[in-house]
Amino acid sequence: MDIRKVGVVGLGTMGAGIAQVSVQAGFETIGHEVSAELGGRGRATIERYLSRGVEKGRLSEGERDAALACLSLTTELGELADCDLVVEAVLEELDLKREVFRELERVTRDDAILATNTSALSVSEIAEATRNPTRVIGMHFFNPAPVLPLVEIVRGRQSSDEAVEAAYTWAERAGKQPVRCNDTPGFIVNRILIPLLNDCVRVLDEAGVEPAEMDRAMTNGAGWPMGPCALIDLIGVDVHVHASQALHDKLGEARTAPPERLVRMQDEGRLGRKSGRGFYEY
Ligand SMILES: NC(=O)c1ccc[n+]([C@@H]2O[C@H](COP(=O)([O-])OP(=O)(O)OC[C@H]3O[C@@H](n4cnc5c(N)ncnc54)[C@H](O)[C@@H]3O)[C@@H](O)[C@H]2O)c1
Repeated sequence: MDIRKVGVVGLGTMGAGIAQVSVQAGFETIGHEVSAELGGRGRATIERYLSRGVEKGRLSEGERDAALACLSLTTELGELADCDLVVEAVLEELDLKREVFRELERVTRDDAILATNTSALSVSEIAEATRNPTRVIGMHFFNPAPVLPLVEIVRGRQSSDEAVEAAYTWAERAGKQPVRCNDTPGFIVNRILIPLLNDCVRVLDEAGVEPAEMDRAMTNGAGWPMGPCALIDLIGVDVHVHASQALHDKLGEARTAPPERLVRMQDEGRLGRKSGRGFYEY
């Protein structure tokens, strides 16, 4: 299947980023939000990032305008009827996502690919809401989607090879570095990174290490491009704790449980870069 027209449902942090990736690659893209105001906010975010790219010389004004011309907005899911690929990026709630997929199946062509950007829910459980789960897959982008190259293309229990391969090819054409994986908790990166970052935080207390020294240890001793404390500050302590809890609920492994220290930081509002304070001051 040759993907030409893309729908994005939900233009929040991830949806706006995914829509930006799509329009920058020249795909006609239609963004859906619950209200025109929220749609407009998503569009403004994309416009801001593209204009910053122009200021920094990463793209020309003409390229920015061409990308923006590929984007249209709607509050009606029915207007996604002729999309070849729809990426869902609404809130991380199973019932809501199932409802969106039930409706997407009703309004789109039978051969359209329906993808979820879920981080922690099961793609297969979302797909169960549809009559034809073979065309449902996961497309897990990383935040910020226009910057981070990886997209995990997730095979649900019933996803067809055709749907997986078409999404993989589209992600490549959109300038991303896709990888394929099965529908298991945390997929690839979060399954590995979440317990690993939790280990680093626990070692702070176990070994009496200062965050800056932990970061120096892992950059200089393990070749990490960024230390674990700086990385958690960038991700957001609340986002990490939430993802960690979700993984722990699924796997029950002790290492996946959010460390006490991070839960305390979250309670104190020390969320990292976004709150001006985390392991470091910003
Ligand atoms: N934020 C991250 O770092 C990150 C990374 C990877 C994946 N994800 C996943 O991406 C998804 C979206 O996360 P986010 O951080 O962008 O959330 P967000 O809260 O920023 O955005 C969600 C958007 O969905 C909209 N929405 C809600 N119901 C809708 C509906 N029925 N139709 C259309 N739009 C609807 C909301 O108005 C909101 O704008 C979640 O599944 C999340 O787990 C998030």
